[in-house]
Amino acid sequence: MSETTFDGGRDRPEGATRLRGAGTDLILVLLAAVCTFLVAGTFELSEAVGRWLRHFEPYQLDELPAAVTVLVLGLGWSSWRQSRQAATEMGLRLRAQESLNRQRAYLEVLFNENLSANLIAAGDGGITVANPELAQLFGLDAPKAVVGRRLGDFYADEALWRGHREILSGGGRVEMNDLRIRRADGAEAVVIARLTARRAPEGLEVHAFFTDVTALETTRRELAVALDENRRLAQRGIEMLEHERRNIARELHDEMGQWLNALKLDAVSIRGRDDVPVEVKDAAQSIVELTDHVYDVARSLMRRLRPVALDELGLGPAIQYCVDQWRRRHPAVKCEVRIDGVPDSLGEAANITLYRMVQEGLTNVTKHARASAVTVALTAEADAATGGVRVDIVDDGVGLDEQIGRSGLGLPGLRERVEMLGGRFWVDSAPGRGTALHASLPGASVGAEK
Ligand SMILES: Nc1ncnc2c1ncn2[C@@H]1O[C@H](COP(=O)(O)OP(=O)(O)OP(=O)(O)O)[C@@H](O)[C@H]1O
Ligand SMILES: [Mg+2]
Repeated sequence: MSETTFDGGRDRPEGATRLRGAGTDLILVLLAAVCTFLVAGTFELSEAVGRWLRHFEPYQLDELPAAVTVLVLGLGWSSWRQSRQAATEMGLRLRAQESLNRQRAYLEVLFNENLSANLIAAGDGGITVANPELAQLFGLDAPKAVVGRRLGDFYADEALWRGHREILSGGGRVEMNDLRIRRADGAEAVVIARLTARRAPEGLEVHAFFTDVTALETTRRELAVALDENRRLAQRGIEMLEHERRNIARELHDEMGQWLNALKLDAVSIRGRDDVPVEVKDAAQSIVELTDHVYDVARSLMRRLRPVALDELGLGPAIQYCVDQWRRRHPAVKCEVRIDGVPDSLGEAANITLYRMVQEGLTNVTKHARASAVTVALTAEADAATGGVRVDIVDDGVGLDEQIGRSGLGLPGLRERVEMLGGRFWVDSAPGRGTALHASLPGASVGAEK
């Protein structure tokens, strides 16, 4: 409490002095009475007054001593009553003063122990009151080192202070989430600030409240950098994955396709020879059928690894093909597809992202939804003049459980891919009410990836 810049205000009420004065008065009166008695006894004053008053017998002045005695007693009684009344009033005032002092002490504690930095300044910014937290924020030892300085000296941006001063002198109020403060040692702090103006008898008063968020701001910046790095790493990972998939698909096609073809040709040639037994011809026929089957499997694998249709036919037909394949495997589920107004060349990254989203959405319907109908829609964004694209995959299945929803990699992977392109990915679902996956890619970012 020693640091407070509140003035003490512990004055003793003047009534207390007056109360002490009443005792002195009584003693003086008693002394005067004793002295009078002694003087009167010595000089026989009453007899002299009696003799003198006898000359005025017709006016009954000899009865005056009795009347004067009553007057004195009356005055004494009246003064006693007044002093009692004064004592009562003084008691009340003392109690009020004590309560005022207590409240003042509470306010001092609240002000001095406050975790936010507070100050009061005059209209020109001259600081008159400050708490220890403020001194610490401004890089000074104690509030008294702040008092007398100008608030504007601690603004990192002087032009900003001039603007704030103007607002405040008009009786306005300033709120900022990232005010930069220049501390006494030259370092910068970032604060959440509120400045208000109040008209006081001495003129305009500025009340300022600051919360230091420098550490938070630093952490936020570090997090943003880390997030950015993570994004770039994830993007690189996805690019490498797609690249590797494309390589494996090509190897499968070039190597396995060649060898299977050679195998099949040999088997066909054996099957066509007349000098081999029937069992050998049957075995050759079986090899021909098996190579066809293995080739089909390999082709399907190749398409999953790298949707060739995407490169050759473009996004719309590739998605149509993907949905058709899915339909063939799941005839019991009613599946609708709507592709409308999507630009032909969205770019490699956007194409593969949208394709993978449909692929993963349909795989999830198979694995989790127990749906009877699913709709896949790929449309141009109605309100985006820049050529944005929107994908919606909606099923009428069991809905998504939020808790379990966090365990898989499919949905987070989709979100990552979409957000990397500057788009938005979101899921709408409720237990028993189906699941809807949505993504919206802005045209500008899609274009940037071309
Ligand atoms: N269409 C859907 N209907 C119901 N639940 C779904 C649907 N799609 C996803 N889920 C739920 O959300 C979870 C997460 O899906 P996600 O695709 O991320 O992972 P996954 O499919 O379980 O595994 P994977 O990593 O192989 O994709 C699923 O485990 C499932 O519980
Ligand atoms: Mg999945």
